[in-house]
Amino acid sequence: MIEVLGSVIDPELGADIVTLGMVPGVTVSPDGVITVEIKLTIKGCPMRAEIKNEVESRVLLHPGVSDVKIVWGEMDADERSAVMTKARWNAREHAPDTEVPLSCRVLAIASGKGGVGKSSVTVNLGAALAAAGFTVGILDADIWGFSVPRLLGISERMEAHAVEGSDKPKIFPNERGVGDGLLKVVSTGFLVDEETALMWRGLMLTKAVEQFLRDVAWGDLDYLLIDMPPGTGDVQMGLARMLPSTDLIVVTTPALAAQKVAQRAADMARRSFLRVVGVIENMSSFTCEHGETYDLFGAGGGEELAAAVDAPLLGKIPLETLVAAGNDAGEPVAIAGVGVAADAFRSIADQIIATIAPPTRPDEVDMSGCTARLFDTVNEAFAQLDAQT
Ligand SMILES: Nc1ncnc2c1ncn2[C@@H]1O[C@H](COP(=O)(O)OP(=O)(O)O)[C@@H](O)[C@H]1O
Ligand SMILES: [Mg+2]
Repeated sequence: MIEVLGSVIDPELGADIVTLGMVPGVTVSPDGVITVEIKLTIKGCPMRAEIKNEVESRVLLHPGVSDVKIVWGEMDADERSAVMTKARWNAREHAPDTEVPLSCRVLAIASGKGGVGKSSVTVNLGAALAAAGFTVGILDADIWGFSVPRLLGISERMEAHAVEGSDKPKIFPNERGVGDGLLKVVSTGFLVDEETALMWRGLMLTKAVEQFLRDVAWGDLDYLLIDMPPGTGDVQMGLARMLPSTDLIVVTTPALAAQKVAQRAADMARRSFLRVVGVIENMSSFTCEHGETYDLFGAGGGEELAAAVDAPLLGKIPLETLVAAGNDAGEPVAIAGVGVAADAFRSIADQIIATIAPPTRPDEVDMSGCTARLFDTVNEAFAQLDAQT
């Protein structure tokens, strides 16, 4: 009878509820009644009914089983964190192949709407991280509205050639050295001639991003910053599937009306199980040459958004002509390192390195938890079981 159960919930799948430590005990009575003890992460777990159904229907399928009883329990904090660790680990194990190294910290730069300075923040933050000595990938996921090539002053086409161990040619990012570090930049702006433009226009946004994750030979990366296209949850969902370790940084202007936008960004993140790890306020108060400060776009938006999404406000980037001029010249202020905006970017990069997303060494994988994905993992295990039987 124990064997029967073993075949139902196969620990070797690595993602089933047994392996996850949710089933502390199973007893079998002589008359074929199976009692399964299941510990939930929280008592009011929304997946409870589903888990009950899955377990009962599967166990009952087996000959000799007359009835199934489930005894529910609840995990303590330690057990819960152990389960999260395993679940998160598992989501990674089952994630589709990408060329992004497992040890890379992935930060998606998002906002509820366009024009708030997402692309400016992405390239400057990338530059500040590179200036600190890291190898930083920048993926311009704004497929049609790309601006990263111009902001970084790069216009060469990306090369694609055959690599060992792959039957398809790989795309090679354009590179730009910053201090001791390196930027590896990928954008449709580096692809588009008439022929490829046509090809890419036919691709769905999410497919295009997937292709960049799969077909680009990223090589070593400490960080990957993704300049998200405005206003779509699709790409977020795709990222959550392809790169489950992705964390979100939300950019807003100081306008208090950003509250609505904040809610949208938070909702999207929650739906795709991505963590919002920080908020950046851009276009904050402008200080003129006489030292007077003007809140041109209002004030308080950053604090409000941070409170709404329950994440720290990492910094405020002031409105500064140097930022716009640097953008136009393809020389992000954070590379030159001069001015208050450059200081703000450096401070945000420091926080990312120290606490928000410290670099992972390749031999240790981040396993900090994400609750919601646990049940996806369990469902996935059941789906695999279905496929096997
Ligand atoms: N802190 C800033 N100070 C001055 N100009 C800025 C600042 N941030 C962004 N800009 C300018 O605002 C415009 C929109 O920024 P961009 O990064 O393209 O926004 P998004 O990617 O969100 O659409 C650009 O012209 C950029 O140069
Ligand atoms: Mg942009």
